[in-house]
Amino acid sequence: MSESKHLPIYRHKAELIQAVKNSNFLVVTGETGSGKTTQLPQYLYQAGICKDGKIGITQPRRVAAITVAQRVAQEMQCTLGREVGYQVRFDDCTTQDTVVKYMTDGCLLREILADSLLSQYRVVILDEVHERSLSTDILLGLLKKIFSDPAKATSGRSVPLKVVVMSATLDTDKLSAFLGDCPVFAIPGRTFPVTCTFGSAVGPKDIESTNYVKEVVKVALNVHTTEMAGDILVFLTGQSEIEQACDLLYEKAESIDYRYDVYDQTVEGLLILPLYGSMPTDQQRQIFQPAPPRIRKCVVATNIAATSLTINGIKYIVDSGFVKQLNHNSRVGMDILEVVPISKSEAQQRAGRAGRTSAGKCFRIYTKEFWEKKMPEFTVPEIQRTSLTSVVLTLKCLGIHDVIRFPYLDCPEERFILEALKQLYQFDAIDRRGRVTQLGELMVELPLPPGLARAVLKAASLGCQDLLLPVAAMLSVENIFIRPGHPNKQKEADIKHRALATRSGSMNDFATLLTVFQACKSSDRPSGWCKDNWIHWRALKSAFAVETQLQEIVAHLQRKRDFPVETFDGQKNELFRRCLCAGYFTNVARRSVGKAFCTMDGHGSIVQIHPSSSLFDQEAELNWVLFHDVLVTSRVYIRTVCPIQYEWVKDLLPKLHEVDVYELSSVARKEVTDEEVKKWESREAAKRRPEVSTVDVM
Ligand code: CDP
Ligand code: MG
Repeated sequence: MSESKHLPIYRHKAELIQAVKNSNFLVVTGETGSGKTTQLPQYLYQAGICKDGKIGITQPRRVAAITVAQRVAQEMQCTLGREVGYQVRFDDCTTQDTVVKYMTDGCLLREILADSLLSQYRVVILDEVHERSLSTDILLGLLKKIFSDPAKATSGRSVPLKVVVMSATLDTDKLSAFLGDCPVFAIPGRTFPVTCTFGSAVGPKDIESTNYVKEVVKVALNVHTTEMAGDILVFLTGQSEIEQACDLLYEKAESIDYRYDVYDQTVEGLLILPLYGSMPTDQQRQIFQPAPPRIRKCVVATNIAATSLTINGIKYIVDSGFVKQLNHNSRVGMDILEVVPISKSEAQQRAGRAGRTSAGKCFRIYTKEFWEKKMPEFTVPEIQRTSLTSVVLTLKCLGIHDVIRFPYLDCPEERFILEALKQLYQFDAIDRRGRVTQLGELMVELPLPPGLARAVLKAASLGCQDLLLPVAAMLSVENIFIRPGHPNKQKEADIKHRALATRSGSMNDFATLLTVFQACKSSDRPSGWCKDNWIHWRALKSAFAVETQLQEIVAHLQRKRDFPVETFDGQKNELFRRCLCAGYFTNVARRSVGKAFCTMDGHGSIVQIHPSSSLFDQEAELNWVLFHDVLVTSRVYIRTVCPIQYEWVKDLLPKLHEVDVYELSSVARKEVTDEEVKKWESREAAKRRPEVSTVDVM
């Protein structure tokens, strides 16, 4: 019997196919690993559903979309990209023949923009809905809005769309109620008990200071030497930590004497495997392969292994208690990727991974007190904690003007919606009436954050996109600079990186990115060039691919009738930085005292240049800078920095203070009439304060 026939879902195949046929909306729930993601699309395919259109399955994470598609292609014995394919941002592995398409939720959102009836699809499966990613939440609302009215569901389509919503948690009543009390199909699953123990390494006061990487390594090795055979899954937060932990594990595992040190004498070795989002796919595949006989597998993973991917054979969990999460930081008014304690429900989910096929054990490195005092009950959905700018623009482009009363499964705070509208207005993506401008329509086509999109479009209108597209690509991939762990090597890498910065002529981190891109691309042996310069070759390779795709999109936009054309008479270096200003004027800071800068966005945060910047220690020569992002520790650091002149942003900065909240809250509900806009304008003229124009030019 094939492996897939042992999965819990298999016994319910016929009923499931019937359930999908019977109603347009269906919620499917079942323990992680029961076979929902890999099997249900195959069942529907076998049932002949694809004769009327494709099956699209969304995943919040790109790695999940890719690896699951690989797995399903293998099970269906077809070449990946033929009947089974995947599409994630900047990587489309589908063809005309593709009928089972795995994709990220963000990709489906883009497809709705182009075709709101999703005419190519027969079934759309929103998977991993319990993760509550921003795009999945928006898709839920959109699918409800577009397809829940039976009269509308078929309009423009030959057959109604089938929507299946899959979730690993049992909180399905809420989902079903949201989708008009649609039926719920629960796949009964079997789980085994998992014994959890708390540790002593991380207490409630230790959030920032503790070295939890060392601790998880210690605990994992302890499991390896004192517990019976069975694989280990370690949860950490991100790539660099995972690599660090794997290095430590290799080092320590070397010195184990298997004759004396190991309790279970059937265990004779440790196979250490990292697992994180940006890993090469061939390495990812290895994770799912069983370890050789007498070898214990130890997977060191991000949260991706909590629900998106199931690894068979895991018996022990080592839980760091932390996760990397994108949160809106009101101190600086930006989204920041930060390490935070996981929620209790998340911790239970992690522990559950050890009890899939037999009883397991979970070792938490944190104390009971940490659990009680620092870990929230549930994870807050992304829609309630991150910037909504891109999402609101998407909704507006779809003609949904009432972004406040949009059907959200959980409503974001109104101030976050207003903040998004304000940003869109500042970027000229919407006008005062709340209507999407021509620029807004162009911005939404670029799979980039709004500021970067605007900078790229500015460059394109000036005919110098060759300067900005490589930068946009480099900022869209993982970090390209290698930071070796060893201090001597670190010094060597620093010297090389500095040299690259100097080579770009004008000290400016964006220009360094451009230089690295160009130098590597024109080298005869690019991978060797990267090695010599301590640059991640894999990241650069993806940047090359991303740049090509961005080029195609921009070329397509430029062919549109009204694409703006501008000219500029001046030096290339200035042109480059002026284009950056067009997108990053919301991230401008002016030097105050010493090394400190003050941001100009109304938050007036005090920030400093991060030591990784080529402008670190050059502060004395700088007055005005713009930056790509910030890092918040006890201080706020700006990263990827570029010196600018006040003149270049002088006309843009007032826009940051132009709209008031009253005005925005009307725009948030409807398109506003001309009279109302006139009223605001006259009110504004009356109270126009000279404060912005008095910002002195230093
Ligand atoms: O979606 P759900 O969590 O219910 O289960 P699934 O992801 O469909 O996983 C079903 C089985 O396929 C599990 O035993 C996984 O280990 C296996 N699988 C795999 O071997 N390789 C993959 N790339 C994905 C899943
Ligand atoms: Mg799944």
